[in-house]
Amino acid sequence: MRVWTIRKLLDWLTAQLKKNEITSPKQNAETIISHVLQMKRLDIYLQPEKEISEAQLKIILEITTRRKKHEPLQYILGETEFYGYKFKVSNSVLIPRPETELLVEKIIHEEKNIDNILDIGTGSGAIIIALAKNLDTENIDAVDISESALKIAQQNADLNNVEINFFRSDIYENITNKYDLIISNPPYISQDEYELLPKEIKDHEPRSALHAENNGLYFYKKILQNAKEHLTEFGKIYFEIGYDQAEKITGIAKENGFSKIQVFKDLNGFDRIMRIINR
Ligand SMILES: C[S@@+](CC[C@H](N)C(=O)[O-])C[C@H]1O[C@@H](n2cnc3c(N)ncnc32)[C@H](O)[C@@H]1O
Repeated sequence: MRVWTIRKLLDWLTAQLKKNEITSPKQNAETIISHVLQMKRLDIYLQPEKEISEAQLKIILEITTRRKKHEPLQYILGETEFYGYKFKVSNSVLIPRPETELLVEKIIHEEKNIDNILDIGTGSGAIIIALAKNLDTENIDAVDISESALKIAQQNADLNNVEINFFRSDIYENITNKYDLIISNPPYISQDEYELLPKEIKDHEPRSALHAENNGLYFYKKILQNAKEHLTEFGKIYFEIGYDQAEKITGIAKENGFSKIQVFKDLNGFDRIMRIINR
């Protein structure tokens, strides 16, 4: 029987994934091998002649077969990394995106002495868990409409040793408190944009985490319409937004009595974060 070393397998997997038009095939192959061999990615290059056992090879081939069909690697492996922390993911939650780390970064950098926070549409819990690890906040609530997402979020809070009150709520439906910070990365993709998404996203990630009515603006409008009831006097809202939505959301915020509105760009120069201040 042929002996597979890390080096040989890496080359072979990369070619297989490339043939199936997987983007970044080499990076995918590295992740698969390092995950199954429980090694750091760098270590696979330090031990290129290490042999792969038959059992490991079997698992690697199973993962590769799924990946070749464009299933996201994070769902196949059941985990991902966000803001340097490990998160469990399944296809009932959106895979946390690197651009969302910017929202976390901004809040950690700008906000001190926060007594309570609400995260609307928490999904895997990525944003709120990364914040809980870095802010000294007494009360943290996080809601989602999806019970299965909330289960994953709770597991992720346990995994990362933070205390967060997760509960089901359709936006503010079950919210009675007022908060210093309301944070949301809501679904914001319009119907037209949704149709154009790659199959990798459309066929695997939950539509309810991505698409929003009203040209992608539904959630911003709903959150802003009732925000004054749920913000403390100097409370703030932080949104992740689509690259072309800042102007429209600014209009909605003004219609609802807000005048202090700021927009921040991501590393690619696109509008990505909005901060809306109560007073
Ligand atoms: C874009 S995902 C964001 C997930 C996570 N916060 C993140 O940044 O990775 C939006 C989330 O909003 C949730 N959601 C959709 N409709 C909702 C509603 N009416 N009320 C509360 N959450 C909702 C979805 O289930 C999904 O988890």
